[in-house]
Amino acid sequence: MILTGNKRIHITRCELHRRYILPVVSILLLQACLEEPLTANDDVGEDKLAKCGACHGLNGISNIPIIPNLAGQKAEYTVLQLKAFRSGERVNAAMTPHAKSLSDQDIADLAAHYANLDPSGKSSSSP
Ligand code: HEC
Repeated sequence: MILTGNKRIHITRCELHRRYILPVVSILLLQACLEEPLTANDDVGEDKLAKCGACHGLNGISNIPIIPNLAGQKAEYTVLQLKAFRSGERVNAAMTPHAKSLSDQDIADLAAHYANLDPSGKSSSSP
């Protein structure tokens, strides 16, 4: 019950929900939805690409037998592997240190970059 001047206004619990709580919750939900989702933009820093390229090849084709090619790999798979290396779920002495410093955005960008490279390695030269 709220007193305004000499008028008494009854606000039932249901009205309270409808008038105040629902709009506030809706706004919060809307804000959450409007927050920019993580989108891969294939715009990876040159220094990162050079580091990864030292082992995996600048064109994503490795010249080293025990190092996998990344060119043309499905982005979702690359994201999962990089996150697994980062969390320690997948471990490799050569690879793990390079995944540790990657942000989610770096991982999304790197994955998009490698997915877009030609898996035959013909479109550009190997280092
Ligand atoms: C010092 C060499 C080295 C560097 C530098 C390196 N990697 Fe690796 N990477 C490896 C090796 C070795 C493996 C295979 C690991 C294994 O056998 O489990 C690997 C595996 C991977 C895999 C998993 C591939 C698959 O098919 O499962 C991905 C993805 C990957 N590296 C991405 C990257 C990215 C992105 C970078 C740069 C941030 C990078 N690597 C830097 C050596 C390296």
